[in-house]
Amino acid sequence: MIIAIDGPAASGKGTLGKRLAAHYGFRHLDTGLIYRAVGKAVLDRGGDLADEAAALEAARSLDPAHFDDPELKTQAAGEAASVVSAHPAVRAALLDFQRTFAAAPPGAVLDGRDIGTVICPDADVKIFVVAKPEVRAHRRALEARSRGEAADEGAILADILKRDERDKNRAAAPLKQAEDAVLLDNSYLDIEGGVRAAIDIVEAVRAGRRRV
Ligand code: C5P
Repeated sequence: MIIAIDGPAASGKGTLGKRLAAHYGFRHLDTGLIYRAVGKAVLDRGGDLADEAAALEAARSLDPAHFDDPELKTQAAGEAASVVSAHPAVRAALLDFQRTFAAAPPGAVLDGRDIGTVICPDADVKIFVVAKPEVRAHRRALEARSRGEAADEGAILADILKRDERDKNRAAAPLKQAEDAVLLDNSYLDIEGGVRAAIDIVEAVRAGRRRV
């Protein structure tokens, strides 16, 4: 079984996907980390994020063993990810890795922006996660402070709004809800509530249940 989690509030720390995967005994891939790693690699080499060839080179030499680098969680890496992820060649270079991950048994949860629309259009369950931008900014500020970073919530909110606009309006795999995705708004849910709601959705879709 493949579960696709997309949406502006989808990955973040990857907590929802990770918890869902643990619940079902599946593997988990936070695809945001891939784009963050590409962005960081370009910056580390002193390259220009807008340069598609430089970003493609970084995507081709990506090492998943480094996905747990704490630097990938920073706002700067997220912003860099949003720029390099708009390059079509970068997205194309990362397609096979994601599809291979998704197809391997016993099942997988992938979270990102285009899993249900482009990477795994045949995913068994698709969940589109949204939350009010102010709530997301508050959560990101708390996360940053828990890592010992200073966090200006207003600046984080501005960054979130800018990134959402870029993700929605890019030509390559823009952020949008797949027609067969179920919407989950977790603005008023804590992590436990969000995980429970996601499990409820998975169970309802698998059982073919629908509220009419
Ligand atoms: O979810 P996260 O904040 O880690 O994603 C960072 C950025 O990476 C997003 O703003 C988006 O531009 C990009 N991304 C993407 N496609 C994905 C996952 C992330 O374009 N599947």
